[in-house]
Amino acid sequence: MQATAIAQPNIALIKYWGKRDVDRNLPAVGSISITLSDLHTTVSVELEAGSTGDQLSVNGVENQSMLPRISHCLNTVIGEKRPRARVSSDSNFPIAAGLASSASAFAATTLAAAAAAGLSFRTDQLARLAGQASGSAARSLYGGFVELKNVGDAIDLTGLCDVDSWPLQVVVAITETGPKATGSTQAMEISRKTSPFYSSWIEQQDRDLDIARTAIERRDFEQLAAVAEHNCLKMHSVMWASRPPMVYWNCATIGCMQTVRQLQASGCNVFFTIDAGPQIKAVCLPRDVDVVSEALIETPGVQEIMTTGLGPAARLIDKT
Ligand code: DP6
Repeated sequence: MQATAIAQPNIALIKYWGKRDVDRNLPAVGSISITLSDLHTTVSVELEAGSTGDQLSVNGVENQSMLPRISHCLNTVIGEKRPRARVSSDSNFPIAAGLASSASAFAATTLAAAAAAGLSFRTDQLARLAGQASGSAARSLYGGFVELKNVGDAIDLTGLCDVDSWPLQVVVAITETGPKATGSTQAMEISRKTSPFYSSWIEQQDRDLDIARTAIERRDFEQLAAVAEHNCLKMHSVMWASRPPMVYWNCATIGCMQTVRQLQASGCNVFFTIDAGPQIKAVCLPRDVDVVSEALIETPGVQEIMTTGLGPAARLIDKT
């Protein structure tokens, strides 16, 4: 009754921002992401006699604040009439800081919970279950380039291109390691209810998805760079124009954007994307990864960089 799974976070190039059904956590828009290789979360789920009192430890420390979401995720996967669970989650990167730790954590929890309970699901079913816990987690059930589409009252996921077919590199510039002020779940609802740009964000998303999908099919870096940066900045414009405004950037975030602009001007194949946090993710061709890493680590305010390739799907690593 114990299983351990590992999952990598994913970074959206065409972003998920907004929900069409809050109760079932269905996204308002489709999204396209890349799963990363060197960042990971390992989750063990142990089911034991007794029906109440789940326990969660995150990086070795008892965690009460995430426990309700984890318990809810276990209920979704195993059912509400289930034994109590002891869950431990360990990540090798800062959590709750805009580095998609909830994506890797809920993808691994879903997989480990199903295995611990002896349930077998297809990957698309696991992705739907993980998506109910956190929308972006559905994408970490797949490796490489992944598209999440809205179909009827559900989501559907497709692998667009595997890791080896287009081995891009990602340089993550960490500018702040503390947890963010407003979590994505709450921030999306504030945007939906108050941002004057929200409806045009939703209207334009299918066009961005089409452009990005075609760029990935053709391995057209320039086209992907243009649409990904535009999509990211539109999402942040929605946030900035919300009430209260949600500005996740700091001075170093903007400094890193300028560094990426200078690299682009010197002929480097690189673009940036930013999620609900102050970190910059610079996506580049393998031949440019050293110059991108050097430029970002020298950017004032950058505390650390992590360099990673594209990674595999979530997988089970132990079951007893
Ligand atoms: C900015 O998946 O964390 O990273 O479904 O409410 O858990 P919930 O939201 P979450 O939101 C991710 C937002 C984003 C963009 C993205 O990953 O597509």
